[in-house]
Amino acid sequence: MKVKEKIKKYSQEQLLKFEDELKKEQKEKLYNQINELDFSYLDELKNNQTIDKGKITPIKAMTINEIEKNKSKYEEIGIKALQNYEVGTLLLAGGMGTRLGSDNPKGMYNIGKTKDVFIFQRLFENLLDVVKKCGKYIPFFIMTSEKNHKVTTEFLEGKNYFGYDKNFVKFFVQEMAPCVDLKGKILLESKDRIATSPNGNGGWFNSLLNNIEAKEMLEKYNIKWLNVFSVDNVLQKIADPIFVGATINGNFEVSSKVIRKVDPFEKVGVMCNKNGKPSIVEYIDLTNEMAVETDENGERVYNFGVVLNYLFNVDTLYKIKDNKLPVHIVTKKVEYINDDGVLVKPSEPNAHKFEMLCVDMIEYCNSCLPFEVERKKEFAPVKNKTGVDSVESAQNLLEENGYKL
Ligand code: UTP
Repeated sequence: MKVKEKIKKYSQEQLLKFEDELKKEQKEKLYNQINELDFSYLDELKNNQTIDKGKITPIKAMTINEIEKNKSKYEEIGIKALQNYEVGTLLLAGGMGTRLGSDNPKGMYNIGKTKDVFIFQRLFENLLDVVKKCGKYIPFFIMTSEKNHKVTTEFLEGKNYFGYDKNFVKFFVQEMAPCVDLKGKILLESKDRIATSPNGNGGWFNSLLNNIEAKEMLEKYNIKWLNVFSVDNVLQKIADPIFVGATINGNFEVSSKVIRKVDPFEKVGVMCNKNGKPSIVEYIDLTNEMAVETDENGERVYNFGVVLNYLFNVDTLYKIKDNKLPVHIVTKKVEYINDDGVLVKPSEPNAHKFEMLCVDMIEYCNSCLPFEVERKKEFAPVKNKTGVDSVESAQNLLEENGYKL
């Protein structure tokens, strides 16, 4: 579709408001961006109220006690798979980390007190523990966005990947989505550039396949499982052999590390079944009755929260990759230029962003293993500067686990 047609179709004429002031190359740049950017996100502003909430029922988790009984068997299976390069790890690092409020990518945040301890460093070191155990490096994919790719790759190169063999590290860049004002008009961040934001952490598998080098690594090692995890949990175990072994042993299409909620109403997504398929119910969709519902042993049935650490079967990923994920619309502060071409830095949320989420991939899988891990040992997310899930709470948890900061 031609640029002018596309603009007309979506009623976005404001994008060319400054066209006459642009030099030839600037105009070309803007036209290219308009051509490449997916405007169909805008349709979501009309259709978005229709995300199916479905019929929610409990799903059974494998508890720490149950895992303990089969620990050595699972570990053996897991280590063997890791030694055969059947497992890759995949770091979702394309987010903007706006709540933390640092200009750099979240992984570059230094949570050390007396020495440097970068978030990326914690993740690489955790993975290196497994490498030591297995005697083999683990293929490591890192998803960035065009907003943070350069600075992330330069940082990790500069730190020599914290001792990880860089031949096993492949980066790929995720897709972007336009940012729109509250009336649905796409914003400009400058006269020749549309304001965009990363389109969520749900599109990672297709973005990986679109990258030649990353796809080559997937195929070269014939990777059968991908352990996807978020950047901000500084205590999480990655490519955990016991988790890997339990998943392979049970022949699940996906598994998810879960933690017991601190109270029935904790604000965390909870593993469940939805219309008979594995899924995650957001805390706002969990009624009070469901939150406290118990089974015959008096255990709460919606008690296991997800921590964004999933192990996906790669054959399953190929099968589900063309399914359209729901698009979530979030309202955030986005800088833009106004009608006079002046840059505005809003103090209140002024724009919608569009995001697809990794959690929504779960319900396309036929089976899922919720795998319980000990909260105090594996969950220390850095989301905010202070308070809950903050730098400070993560530092405390790291220290409780014996890390010197
Ligand atoms: P969050 O939901 O915490 O988002 O991401 P965020 O962008 O990091 O932080 P806020 O909400 O702006 O404060 C969970 C994980 O998904 C990744 C993040 O990097 C993090 O590891 N993510 C998020 C992406 O890779 N891409 C995205 O578009 C969004």
